[in-house]
Amino acid sequence: MSDLKGKVAIVTGASRGIGKALACTAASLGVNLVIGARNEGPLKETAEEIKKKYKVEVLPVGCDVTKLEDLENLVNKAKEKFGRIDILINNAGVSSQYPFHEQPIEDFEKLAHTNYLGYVRLIRLVINDFIKQKSGAIINMVSGSTLCDPLPRNFIVYSSLKVGLRAFSKGLFWELRDHGIKVTSILPGVTDTDLTGKLAEITSDSSRLMTTEAIENAVRFALTVPANVCPLEIAVINQQTPWTAPVIPFEQKHPGK
Ligand SMILES: NC(=O)c1ccc[n+]([C@@H]2O[C@H](COP(=O)([O-])OP(=O)(O)OC[C@H]3O[C@@H](n4cnc5c(N)ncnc54)[C@H](OP(=O)(O)O)[C@@H]3O)[C@@H](O)[C@H]2O)c1
Repeated sequence: MSDLKGKVAIVTGASRGIGKALACTAASLGVNLVIGARNEGPLKETAEEIKKKYKVEVLPVGCDVTKLEDLENLVNKAKEKFGRIDILINNAGVSSQYPFHEQPIEDFEKLAHTNYLGYVRLIRLVINDFIKQKSGAIINMVSGSTLCDPLPRNFIVYSSLKVGLRAFSKGLFWELRDHGIKVTSILPGVTDTDLTGKLAEITSDSSRLMTTEAIENAVRFALTVPANVCPLEIAVINQQTPWTAPVIPFEQKHPGK
């Protein structure tokens, strides 16, 4: 998919953070967008900003990825407006940081529906069109935490769902490669967004956090390699955060202790 001008991408969680940055990356390559998030005010503002800056078409669609009917509506709106979908950037996500025994039980469902099931369902809703088209690119926002074994302390529900997503993505690529469909997992390290702003002290030193730039470059690379190549996984990891050190010792220190 080296010439992307006029192609159509759905980007979830695109109102801010990594999703917004990736929507801008796609727009900078001439891709028209359908962007989704729950709060429609910031989503519409982002749509206007991208339209003005990159001169592409941008359709904002209010969407909660935990709800199947919202995902169906997102895909239908994209097809009504543009007639096809070429790229899916599955990015919407939430995080939470708890010792497991203190984590609210309802948190599990929210994490699973947003960070895993929402991704798999949305892929299922576009995949048969990709198969018919004999082309399509899926980018799944995984996490650098999946490289840690054992998983980062106090993030084990979040991280284990991302491990599942990573395994699913890799399996999906092998299942679909003969149909010309690319599936790429992006594994970002700790990045300066609202998501990390809500976490505890470990992430409060902003000099340790990545900006979205490396992730944007990784996705640009994934989308512009020749048609017969698929970058299966791209990890872009901070050099300075203990979470994503190449080897996490078993006795991880709790942040702040
Ligand atoms: N930041 C990091 O350090 C980091 C590292 C590794 C991986 N990631 C992953 O990268 C992705 C983006 O994270 P971020 O840091 O950019 O987060 P963020 O700044 O908090 O942005 C999250 C985006 O997702 C949307 N969203 C959240 N829940 C949603 C839902 N149920 N339905 C639809 N949209 C929803 C938000 O909009 P609304 O609230 O309006 O819905 C927002 O647009 C996530 O999958 C995260 O796990 C982040």
